[in-house]
Amino acid sequence: MKVLIFDTKETLFESLSHYYINEIKANPNIHLGLATGGTPVPLYEKLIEDHKLNKTSYKNVKTFNLDEYVGIEETHPQSYRTFMNETLFNHIDINLNNTKVPSGMASDLELEAKKYDKLLDEHGINIQLLGIGTNAHIGFNEPGSNLNSGTIIAPLTQETRDANVRFFNDMSEVPTVSITMGIGSILKADKIILVATGANKAEAIKNTIEGYITKDVPASALQTHNDVVIYLDKEAASLLSK
Ligand code: GLP
Repeated sequence: MKVLIFDTKETLFESLSHYYINEIKANPNIHLGLATGGTPVPLYEKLIEDHKLNKTSYKNVKTFNLDEYVGIEETHPQSYRTFMNETLFNHIDINLNNTKVPSGMASDLELEAKKYDKLLDEHGINIQLLGIGTNAHIGFNEPGSNLNSGTIIAPLTQETRDANVRFFNDMSEVPTVSITMGIGSILKADKIILVATGANKAEAIKNTIEGYITKDVPASALQTHNDVVIYLDKEAASLLSK
């Protein structure tokens, strides 16, 4: 794993957005694995800014999101579909049909998971973007998850629900189940970029990079992939030993 540490969030996202823009220009048909959460928002803002200024085009780009809440409609203000539309897709020239988010409202969720895996296998992801939970979850693969699985229907831990309650009116509205690309699906990407900012991610980052590969630290499975780059600000890197 390659670890890049930046003095500020600003310099981190400056560098990361340049990387993405160059990759998209070099391969206008690129397949991007995208993530939600607060962490990638500054990246999406910079991609929008660049699209407006420099006309970088997403017409032939395909995107595949990691996860979605189960039990809330696509149109719900806190669905990850709405998040992606509002935070990125509605502001660039991407064809919405080329943006995939698993459905958390499918009548047969197991079938939806199988279909999502088929879609991922047919297309393949060139660059998978990841954030990380404070308990080192990736996508919604919580501690204890199988490190090899495809897309799964996964319960959310209370820690994750607590972290995400800020987006909802109260805890009763926070979903308890998700549909998420499994760690096995994530590891199939050609390249993986994990981004973490802030001191509350420092322990998860230390365990991910310096700890054993274990189900207790889902992101530790990234140690088995041969092209992972981890972008950190100083705070998220603060517990690393070197
Ligand atoms: C959610 C998402 C993850 C994300 C995590 C961290 O649980 N499913 O993909 O990495 O939140 O979110 P944040 O970046 O807001 O800390």
